[in-house]
Formats: sequence, C-alpha cells, structure tokens
Amino acid sequence: MRKPDSPACKRSAVVHALAVRATHWINAIAMTCMVMSGWAIYNASPLFGFRFPAWATVGGWLGGSIAWHFAAMWLLCANGLLYLGYGMATGHFRRHFLPLGPGAVLRDAGLALRLRLPHRPGAYNALQRMMYAAVLLLGVAVVASGLSIWKPVQLYWLADLFGGFDTARRVHFFAMAGIVGFVAVHLALVIVVPSTLLPMFTGRAPRGHRGEAEA
Ligand code: HEM
Repeated sequence: MRKPDSPACKRSAVVHALAVRATHWINAIAMTCMVMSGWAIYNASPLFGFRFPAWATVGGWLGGSIAWHFAAMWLLCANGLLYLGYGMATGHFRRHFLPLGPGAVLRDAGLALRLRLPHRPGAYNALQRMMYAAVLLLGVAVVASGLSIWKPVQLYWLADLFGGFDTARRVHFFAMAGIVGFVAVHLALVIVVPSTLLPMFTGRAPRGHRGEAEA
C-alpha cells in the first residue's frame, strides 16, 4: 500500500471511493450471472418469437440456470442495497449524479456527437449522469418485477402494481434489455476513453481535475 505522503500519492488523487469500486465490480459479476442464467430460463418458455443462443447462457439445464439466477440474485440485492445506502448516506449520488437537466443532457449529447465531450475521471458529464441514474432505476425495476413473478401469490400487491403476472414478466424482460443496452454503450465509452478504466480499479487518477472523491 502507498504511503499518503509518497510522491506517487501527491501526483494522484482519489477519484472513486473504495465502496463505489467494490460494489461496482461485484455488481458487474452478479449482473453477468443474472443475465446469462435469465436468458436460459427465458429459453425454456420464450415470451417472444426467438431464443438466446446456448453459448450465451449459464446453468446447463433449467434447474441449474434457476439455481444460478437465485444465487446471483442474493449477491446483486445485498450489493445493490450497500451501494444505494452508501450513495444516499454519503451524498455520493447528490455530488456525482446531480444536477441533471434536459439542457445539460442535450448540450453534452451535441458535444459527444462532435467528439468534443471533455472527460475527467470521477467527474461525470450529463450523459453519464443520465445513464447511471437510468440504470439504477432499471435495476430497481428488474428486481421488483423479478420478485413479483417469483412469488406472485405472497407478493400479489407487487404483481398488481405492474398490472398482473404477465405484464410483470414483460417489465422484467424489458428492464433486462435496458440494462444490457446500457452495458453495451457503457463498454463502448470505456473503449473510446480507456483512461477511465484503471481508476475504477485503483481509485486514483493524476491530479489536476475536479473529479476527486470523498474517500
Ligand atoms: C466489465 C464490465 C464493466 C466495465 C469495464 C465498467 C467500467 C466502468 C468505468 C471505467 C467506470 C468509471 C467511468 C468514469 O470514470 O467515467 C464505471 C462506472 C459506473 N458503472 Fe461500470 N463497468 C462495467 C459494468 C457495469 C455494469 C454491469 C453496470 C450496471 C448495470 C455498471 C454501472 C456503472 C455505474 C452506475 C457507474 C458509476 C459508479 C458511481 O460513481 O457511483 N457498470 N464503469
């Protein structure tokens, strides 16, 4: 571990708190297991006229995929609650995801289209803020709809909130599709700006920008 007064530490600053990094990577693993096992469960009784390729699924057979789905579900929920609790208790969401308005999103979308959007590690532009806020809402929707189709008798009020079991199943599918779409754009942005990746592991980035974190 680096000493706080070492030259390397003086040249760099913390841009992602440990809690954010740990929950982010645990979430990435849990989400991958959830989506791949979910696709196998979908294949057993497709909602639409297609199936997901077997190589993109985990579990091997329906019982195995369901076991994977529920094991990853506990990890995803516990980790998600820790992240949400941390984000609200420390002001992380307020500091990093707000303010967020249509004006700033349109301005940054225009800059992004002209490849002129500046990026500082740990300081999110309006497009990132919008995407991160949206994926948090999709995460809540996917978990709530999933619980309602898992226990439709005990949690009938939750299924009713979605308009019944069949609609809840569709909400679950489309929330998953939204999350997969988010991840595709998220990974494309990491490829376009690869300097964002290392700080998400180490927490640190060179000094000289305003994106420093609370840790
Ligand atoms: C291998 C897959 C992934 C990679 C390589 C990756 C990479 C990154 C990087 C580099 C950042 C920091 C961006 C920056 O500083 O501008 C970030 C932040 C973030 N990522 Fe990912 N990510 C992955 C998967 C996911 C998944 C599956 C989700 C959610 C479904 C997700 C949600 C987020 C969120 C919400 C943030 C902001 C965290 C915060 O500050 O609270 N990521 N990711």
